[in-house]
Amino acid sequence: MANDLSKLWQQVLTDSERIKDTSLRALFDHDEFRVKAMTKTLIDGESEIVVDFSKQLIDAQALKTLLTLAEQAGVVAKFAEMRGGERVNFTENQAALHTALRSPKTAKLELNGQDIIKQVHDELEKVQSFSEKVRSEKKFKKIVNIGIGGSDLGPALIFDVLSAGRKPEIECLFVANIDSTEINAALARCKPEETLFIVCSKSFKTAETLANARIAKQWLATGLGVGLESDVLAEHFVVVSANLLQARSSDVDATNSFQIWPWVGGRYSIASAMSLAPIIAFGFETFKEFLAGMRSVDEQMQTSKPEDNIALILGLIDVFNFGTRRHSSQAVLPYASALRLLPSYLQQLIMESNGKSVRHDGTPADIATSPVVWGGVGTNSQHAFMQMLHQGTQVVPVDFIGFAQLTNVDLVSHDALVANMFAQAKALAFGENQAETNDSAIAPHRKMKGSRPSTTFLAKSLTPRTLGALIALYEHRVFVHGIIAQINSFDQWGVELGKTLSIEINQQINQSTSAVNDASTKSLIDKYRQLKSKS
Ligand code: F6P
Repeated sequence: MANDLSKLWQQVLTDSERIKDTSLRALFDHDEFRVKAMTKTLIDGESEIVVDFSKQLIDAQALKTLLTLAEQAGVVAKFAEMRGGERVNFTENQAALHTALRSPKTAKLELNGQDIIKQVHDELEKVQSFSEKVRSEKKFKKIVNIGIGGSDLGPALIFDVLSAGRKPEIECLFVANIDSTEINAALARCKPEETLFIVCSKSFKTAETLANARIAKQWLATGLGVGLESDVLAEHFVVVSANLLQARSSDVDATNSFQIWPWVGGRYSIASAMSLAPIIAFGFETFKEFLAGMRSVDEQMQTSKPEDNIALILGLIDVFNFGTRRHSSQAVLPYASALRLLPSYLQQLIMESNGKSVRHDGTPADIATSPVVWGGVGTNSQHAFMQMLHQGTQVVPVDFIGFAQLTNVDLVSHDALVANMFAQAKALAFGENQAETNDSAIAPHRKMKGSRPSTTFLAKSLTPRTLGALIALYEHRVFVHGIIAQINSFDQWGVELGKTLSIEINQQINQSTSAVNDASTKSLIDKYRQLKSKS
């Protein structure tokens, strides 16, 4: 870190040390305005999200230091540069312009002499008219989205969330894994003449996606009683890619195709044509609401005062929890079944973005970067893993996400659901009220010390707009952590090695030799060959 940043970082560490042995109870007792100061509300039209981070083990002084650090590190200025098309993904010499995907038509943004906003809106118009056509024709009753990572998790999340509120016009199924059990199960629920396949792949080189597209095509040809070369098949296929040239040269013939761009990372592509499946299922107007929710957080991140900048503050708390305290994992616990896919979505967003250990200048990162992200819905999680969060040897910061209103729910049960969320956050923060209990009378194994950090997100309702806002909040807090750690949040070189090796090993499995491998991998390939041929 530069000298002045180093000094500030030392101050953050000092703050961390100072608070380390303080209890959350003491922090609350000493500051009657704590909750007011540490609760921010994001209001955007009908959408309202209350973010209460008062149960984080942090105090006003530490927050002030973190905000100064952010100022000195130019976090918000760098965010503006990213939005302006700076090549922040420097290892791939690319801009990261996911925010442009939700910019209004009136915005101005050029990259390499190209009008980015026009490109985005032209494509959105294509998406709108295609989705309206599919909805009105009523030919397709099922959509199978074929894609993996960012080409699957985003559209699947939107579809799942919206399906909880209302019935989709068309049912969508999502197939990602190269384990063909998944696509077989999806196809078993479809009729060939009524099925539309959307093949999503930014690169159009991803093995899983190409394998599943091949299986889908064979199934369709057999079901329709036509050959693999028949033009009829293309009517059932749509392609979404940044590499339409590669798509055209593949075996996937599609009558309709939509574009994303090299400057959109796969895990940041939820606001693009990658979400075509849920757009068809719920209509373009719904998607516009989702985009509006994201856009309002983009604006908030760039323009609000630091002390009111929710994404910035959440990112700085991540820096504090994972960078200084070195907590190694983050639990995401939505108290809404509709958000059951959120933890997986965030796993890719956070871990693929910030799972790095080398800084811009090639030197090792000196603060811890991505936590392990995991989670599950409440209240199920309370009967599965919450015990560890309350009394385990590791401290796991938690994000609780709940809603005042959910559609199609029993109101009595809903109150109980939200009460459970509040209760878990309270128990983690304050444990047993030892001031009121005779501490020595409690057996050691029953003691709950509390002071386990959490943030509670309480939104009015789970609308498309609120979902968009929530996702953008997470995107930007990932950005904040990445800037402070000085890493590139937009590449993913680590994934590439696994991809290359799997291709090599796949070839070796079907050849007689696997000599180029290490002893363990060679032995496993041999055993696999033996077991495969055993009756
Ligand atoms: O896992 C690596 C990755 O490149 C992700 O970043 C991406 O979302 C996923 O694979 C799928 O890639 P594509 O959209 O190019 O098929």
